[in-house]
Amino acid sequence: MGKNIALIGFMGTGKSEIGRRLSDRLGKTFLEMDDLIVEKAGKSITEIFEEDGEEAFRRLEREVTGEVSAREDVVIACGGGVVLDEINVENLRKSTVLLLLSASPEIILNRVSKDGETRPLLNVQDKMERIRGLLEFRQPFYLRAADHVIDTSDLEPDQVVDEIMEFVKGEV
Ligand code: S3P
Repeated sequence: MGKNIALIGFMGTGKSEIGRRLSDRLGKTFLEMDDLIVEKAGKSITEIFEEDGEEAFRRLEREVTGEVSAREDVVIACGGGVVLDEINVENLRKSTVLLLLSASPEIILNRVSKDGETRPLLNVQDKMERIRGLLEFRQPFYLRAADHVIDTSDLEPDQVVDEIMEFVKGEV
């Protein structure tokens, strides 16, 4: 059975970009958790937050995490808040290596500003303050869940992929 790799970490740490490249290199299927949630809900992440609230989003996220955890041979780009629910981490752990991507608040702000779509949680006046606050609160959750941590702040996507390949060598 081919093991899975899940990329966890805050918004803007490169989970999607790196996940896509990593899945190509490993010949595994790439799954973007946010896309699966959008598919299930039939509306965008922003609409889910606005119309149904964050709790409803987290419920969908839990369902999707359960589903992807049951798959084999996939690379999963997780939403930034997945680790906040212990059930999600337990589910992922069953068959998945969890890699934490990190980045400085400045780099995160820069990357998410270039994205086009404002994430619901960053739809505030002072984005830097929000990023710092969320990072501080979430850091213990990220670290507890992670098998390995890579700071992506000063790395090109392919360098991150190289480091992951080195870490998972022979294991996935
Ligand atoms: C969230 C991160 C987003 C998305 C949602 C909530 C979070 O995913 O799931 O807006 O709680 O950090 P990305 O990390 O892929 O941007």
